[in-house]
Amino acid sequence: MKIGILNGGGDCAGLNAVTRAVVRKCELFGYEVLGIRHGWSGLIYVDTVPLRWEDVRHIINAGGTILHTTRTNPFRHPNGPETVLANAKKLGLDVVIAVGGEDTLSVGAKLAKMGLKVVGVPKTIDNDIVETDLTFGFDSATNVTVEAIDRIQTTGESHDRIMVVEVMGRHAGWISAYAGIASGANLVLVPEEPVHLEKVCAFLKKRHDSGETASIVVVGEGCSISGSSPGNSTKLDEFSHPRLGGIGDLLAREIERRVHIETRAVVLGHIVRGGAPSAADRILATRLGVAAAQAVKDEEYNVMVCLRKNTISRVPLADILGKMKNIDKETLALLNDFQI
Ligand code: F6P
Repeated sequence: MKIGILNGGGDCAGLNAVTRAVVRKCELFGYEVLGIRHGWSGLIYVDTVPLRWEDVRHIINAGGTILHTTRTNPFRHPNGPETVLANAKKLGLDVVIAVGGEDTLSVGAKLAKMGLKVVGVPKTIDNDIVETDLTFGFDSATNVTVEAIDRIQTTGESHDRIMVVEVMGRHAGWISAYAGIASGANLVLVPEEPVHLEKVCAFLKKRHDSGETASIVVVGEGCSISGSSPGNSTKLDEFSHPRLGGIGDLLAREIERRVHIETRAVVLGHIVRGGAPSAADRILATRLGVAAAQAVKDEEYNVMVCLRKNTISRVPLADILGKMKNIDKETLALLNDFQI
């Protein structure tokens, strides 16, 4: 058996740990592994690298991905899907393990319908994939965000400022919410809820009128004010997603104008995506990598391996398509209780 493995979408901490686990378990099963570089693009333009244990044994703690990643959608390339299928055949691949978010996995599901054998592994810092309790990358990104907010808080307090911290996560507020709760932020704005400038400013004014001299406001990059997200770029990727960002600046300007307290914006951006994975992400990625190889061994294809109630499981790839996991009611309630 020859197994291909690729990473698609934004990188996250833990991708190398998955690759390492897949290679290890495949070798135990006597399978060969071929790394496909640069996501689905590596099967359009044939960009591959053989992977053996010697190549991956040291990478469990490495950030980023040795396979590189892109947001390539073969269905947006002329004859893209047919080329992918033909190249997979030429390379002698029996199965492709696709490690990605909803975009990458949706390509896998469509190619599966055309005859490719695919096993999906969920990953993203955004933690927005349905049918899995958690994605690796999220814990590491949240930890970095918390550390950053802790630091921003001390400088904000020293200067009596309101600090607005813009956080990645696309249209899901998981990183904003968890990091906001864990860092004790005063106000956390998530994309799942509309942002009302009047309410935000009234909250901050009351807080500072009562004697507080500094505040931390966390805002998810996917938030919109009065229905619009003015900072977002109009440039779309191959999955039609805009490049998000800019809400923090806009919010800080409006707060300063209305509340008359010096307000600064900090965009954490890619800092939270890079770097070494947390222990929890290393473990989850290793469990999912092993589970993906096991799915191949069990000849169960077109599934996504996932985590449910701390047990590794499998779901049909088709079940996750076009869906997104938003923050739940309990998390929203926690945010409200700690707006203080
Ligand atoms: O999906 C992961 C993610 O980090 C999002 O949180 C963010 O909006 C996006 O990727 C940024 O992607 P890129 O690095 O391609 O601009």
